[in-house]
Amino acid sequence: MIKIAFFDTKEYDKTLFDKYNKDYGYEITYLESKLNSETAPLAKGYDVVCIFVNDVVDQRTIEILKECNVKLIALRCAGYNNVDMKHIPEGIQVVRVPAYSPYAVAEHTVALLLSIDRKIYKAYQRTKKYNFTLNGLLGFDIHGKTVGVIGTGKIGKVFCQIMKGFGTRILAYDMYPDEKAANQIGYEYVELPKLLQESDIISLHCPLTEDNYKMINLETISQMKDGVILLNTSRGKLIDTDSLIQKLGEGKIGGVGLDVYEDEEEYFLNDMSNSYMRDKDLSILLSMPNVVITSHQAFFTEEALNKIASDTCKNIKNIFTKGSSENEVKA
Ligand code: NAI
Repeated sequence: MIKIAFFDTKEYDKTLFDKYNKDYGYEITYLESKLNSETAPLAKGYDVVCIFVNDVVDQRTIEILKECNVKLIALRCAGYNNVDMKHIPEGIQVVRVPAYSPYAVAEHTVALLLSIDRKIYKAYQRTKKYNFTLNGLLGFDIHGKTVGVIGTGKIGKVFCQIMKGFGTRILAYDMYPDEKAANQIGYEYVELPKLLQESDIISLHCPLTEDNYKMINLETISQMKDGVILLNTSRGKLIDTDSLIQKLGEGKIGGVGLDVYEDEEEYFLNDMSNSYMRDKDLSILLSMPNVVITSHQAFFTEEALNKIASDTCKNIKNIFTKGSSENEVKA
């Protein structure tokens, strides 16, 4: 029987994986710990480690997994920037779930945008306290604005489609432009500087790579329009947080919606409400009136969770029966 060490387990993971595992019969041990070099020895005796976005599979962790005779790292997410693919040795394979619901993430991005623009978070708190005034809630029409989309893969394209419905002009940047989709949906590919200069709203939908680490920094922000709204539902390390805080403070950036954060590992997806905030940058961002932060929840819909669980179970089966999977990640 295939034995799976399931790291960083949340209650909803257990519910969904137990449901789909009825068809596979894996022996799953649910662990609360995140996988990293300290917890990797827990994988001893298991064939598979199943991990999520904030598990850290660096060179040392991989060495320990190899010593433990783990054969498969099964990511139950799309991004795999947390696995040091360069150091994956022969005998260990890596699979992921490349697409579970681009709609979930794109729609959440729009939720962040509307929340910032129309100050929904402030209005919610006010009306709960029977304060029905409008001071400080002034927004702007999204219709007619220019939206810059960085990364037009599965999620970026759905986001473009939705924003098209708002009546916006959409500029996109991707190293691999999909002109057919651009024509069908109605957006235009431009070079990054033009996108930065002309967009009222900029949304990040590219994966984190060595090349785009902190691509949003003092230099790129200075090219943006005054009052730009920045949205990031991709990966936190695409944005240099110090630059973001500085430019928010100066008023250069008008508002920010983040579902991901540069150093999110300690806080995101965890209940830290009985603790105090040790992360100074996160504390500053949370204190800012024009910043809305959600805790890496863009993926979190019923449809996406079901697909994650079913595809992960299938990926594992394919590796152990056929030796390969269409969802295998290669270095
Ligand atoms: P995808 O692989 O379909 O598309 C990514 C696109 O980005 C590709 O077209 C690629 O050419 C482009 N790209 C790569 N580097 C770029 C760069 N430096 N500048 C501009 N474009 C670049 O990926 P998908 O499914 O659309 O997901 C995008 C990202 O969203 C994932 O890599 C992941 O980091 C993030 N994500 C976040 C979730 C959340 O819950 N917040 C859930 C799922 C994904």
